[in-house]
Amino acid sequence: MLDIDHVAALGPVIPVLQFDSVEQGEQTARALYEGGVRVLEITLRTPAGLGVIERMAKFADDLVVGVGTLTRPEQVAAAVSAGARFGVSPGLTDALANAAKQQGLALLPGVATSSEILIALEHGYKTVKFFPAEQAGGVAMLKAFGGPFGDVRFCPTGGVTAATAPNYLALPNVVCVGGSWLTPAAMMRAGDWAGITRLAREASALRPAQ
Ligand code: 3PG
Repeated sequence: MLDIDHVAALGPVIPVLQFDSVEQGEQTARALYEGGVRVLEITLRTPAGLGVIERMAKFADDLVVGVGTLTRPEQVAAAVSAGARFGVSPGLTDALANAAKQQGLALLPGVATSSEILIALEHGYKTVKFFPAEQAGGVAMLKAFGGPFGDVRFCPTGGVTAATAPNYLALPNVVCVGGSWLTPAAMMRAGDWAGITRLAREASALRPAQ
């Protein structure tokens, strides 16, 4: 089983991806890889998600493909069968945590409050997604979490942009950030793969987390 801290160390940004079709997903993933991205969070928000995971899981040895927007335990087995090597969820339930453990899937569970961090810790998750980061208090909230939760590491996601990502990455309790800004829907629909590669290159060059 992959260590979620290994996943978080693959780059400063985990792109959160949503595709209209498997073909669009493959083209976009190739463009991101070309720009230096080595980790993908392919969400299950559209029916194409599982197919893209399957297509990209074997694309390159140094590309780690994960599944995002896990909200139901039964999604875990399907994602693992498709080749997902880690999972991301907007929140955490006992059923979801148990499904991930049974399937041997490294999980980055979402938290937004102190009680949710405590529940994640009870399940053994010390590295969590702070979601939705901007709306739930942003940099100031993460600084405040650093007091009582000195051993917890965060991947803030939700409303993070190329402009705000460096503020998060400068925090000692942030391991990476997540976001969808690398793949604007209009660019994907227009087939602007060079544009996506450029955004990926800029994101990959952001200062690594401390
Ligand atoms: C997520 O599910 O992680 C977020 O929807 C991504 O947030 P963003 O689209 O604001 O980057």
